[in-house]
Amino acid sequence: MSNVIDDFHKLYYNNRTWKNTYWLGIPTQKCPLDLWIYQEIITKLKPDLIIETGTANGGSALYLASICDLIGKGKVLTIDVSAKKNRPKHRRINYLLGSSTSNKILEEVKRRIRKEDVILVILDSDHRFDHVLEELNVYSGLVSKGSYLIVEDTNINGHPVQPNWGQGPMEAVTEFLKRNDDFMIDEDREKFLLTFNPKGCLRKVK
Ligand SMILES: C[S@@+](CC[C@H](N)C(=O)[O-])C[C@H]1O[C@@H](n2cnc3c(N)ncnc32)[C@H](O)[C@@H]1O
Repeated sequence: MSNVIDDFHKLYYNNRTWKNTYWLGIPTQKCPLDLWIYQEIITKLKPDLIIETGTANGGSALYLASICDLIGKGKVLTIDVSAKKNRPKHRRINYLLGSSTSNKILEEVKRRIRKEDVILVILDSDHRFDHVLEELNVYSGLVSKGSYLIVEDTNINGHPVQPNWGQGPMEAVTEFLKRNDDFMIDEDREKFLLTFNPKGCLRKVK
């Protein structure tokens, strides 16, 4: 069974469909099954703020904002080191320019959070181990209890794609969880079997 899933995962990923996927016309580097999981999480949690690191073209931010529109609640704060042209304008989306782990950005993010806010965080920027681990360390404190810290692209470095990537998001999650029992991997969020984020959906339990 897992061979079937991994084989399909490799087939799907390696033909780079994720580079040819759009939300309302905007490139969105996601597996649609993962977007459906986001929809379920957002509908359940009704977050006040969704923080996304790694904007790229803004397709995932627009998707998140569209779901917020449908439930009538929430804003999206998305961060990237570079600002691509023609990113979507949407009343629920705010863009920040800078590195997700820089003091300047972190101060700005914290400034926009109110104490009572329900916060969901999605890490989808630089997928190298050190950067993801640093993001996990700094953004985990912002996630509300019961909400999620989602680490994108834990599938690389052979889990099961891109076997030569080197240590990346999956290894950063493993390292983070060794020192942090506030979060647990929610494998129920892998129910569609194909996910780009295996073991990457971390629920804050305390
Ligand atoms: C995988 S893409 C994001 C894809 C987007 N979330 C989507 O689903 O369409 C990664 C993005 O992270 C950005 N990035 C790389 N290093 C970064 C950093 N240190 N801080 C913030 N963004 C970074 C890149 O410029 C790139 O646009």
